[in-house]
Amino acid sequence: MHFLSVNDLSRDQINKIFDLADEINAGRSVTSLKSGSTLALLFEKPSTRTRVSFEVAMSRLGGKSIYIDTKTTQMSRGEPISDTARMMSLYVDFVAARMYHHEDLLEFANNSTVPVINALTDLEHPTQALADLYTISNAKRRLKGVRIAFTGDIAQNTCNSLMLAATKLGVEMALVGPKNFPPNPQYLTRAREYGVVDIFDAMEDGLANADIVYTDTFVSMGNENDAEQRRKMFSKYQVNAKALQYAEKDASVMHPLPAFRGQEITADVLEGSRSIVWDQARNKLLLEQAILMYLSEKSA
Ligand code: CP
Ligand code: NVA
Repeated sequence: MHFLSVNDLSRDQINKIFDLADEINAGRSVTSLKSGSTLALLFEKPSTRTRVSFEVAMSRLGGKSIYIDTKTTQMSRGEPISDTARMMSLYVDFVAARMYHHEDLLEFANNSTVPVINALTDLEHPTQALADLYTISNAKRRLKGVRIAFTGDIAQNTCNSLMLAATKLGVEMALVGPKNFPPNPQYLTRAREYGVVDIFDAMEDGLANADIVYTDTFVSMGNENDAEQRRKMFSKYQVNAKALQYAEKDASVMHPLPAFRGQEITADVLEGSRSIVWDQARNKLLLEQAILMYLSEKSA
């Protein structure tokens, strides 16, 4: 009933969500939720895209959304997550939660009787991963055999969810980052059960044969205390014009945004002809509509 991790969905279920996104995009399907459906967006961390796209997704599906900054709630005065979840379930039909600690999201979901969607935690960003793979399938007209090189901080949420979703769908991953900052072992092991994940510390090797060059901020939300150290450590993994020469000639560039130009990616590459980051951002709205429809059908 919940969507907390890419692991909550099988390959067939992901494909069903992609089909729903196609239907919605083509304006073909009857895409409304039961009248008066409400989504609570319970956010501990900042957000631009995820918040706005979920709000618009609900309004396009005929429902409503309520944005709640946890700092303004009784959670900030110590009300337990479990009580908050039990109470929210009495009022709303879905919750999309963005939390610092994945365990807090699990605790919330365990106490919720309505579907809970992970809108990003320290460990995962599963709605982003679905929008990303959908974007790739449209850009490359296939998924099987596509190779994504993810550069920089390969031990974080976006990378964890992307490697699970990619390998489930037959997409290869190359993780390119410093040896002393390896990927999360649980996510790596799981992704390798599904498919190919290679690890490199040199950009030249890691980007070889890549159809997609993907990067994300060097300093994820919650890691601000180590910002300087991270920027230094990851600097040689910047996606720039020189790095792109190592990849396939028609390789596309992806980034979940917000982008920090001059750090993990240069402005010319982000704005250049190979960048598909704006399609990625646009597809978040479509995939969130599809995820909400899918969860509502499943929990009906
Ligand atoms: N890509 C993404 O999740 O962006 P926001 O942090 O703006 O929601
Ligand atoms: N890895 C980034 C993703 C932001 C959308 C973060 O957690 O800050």
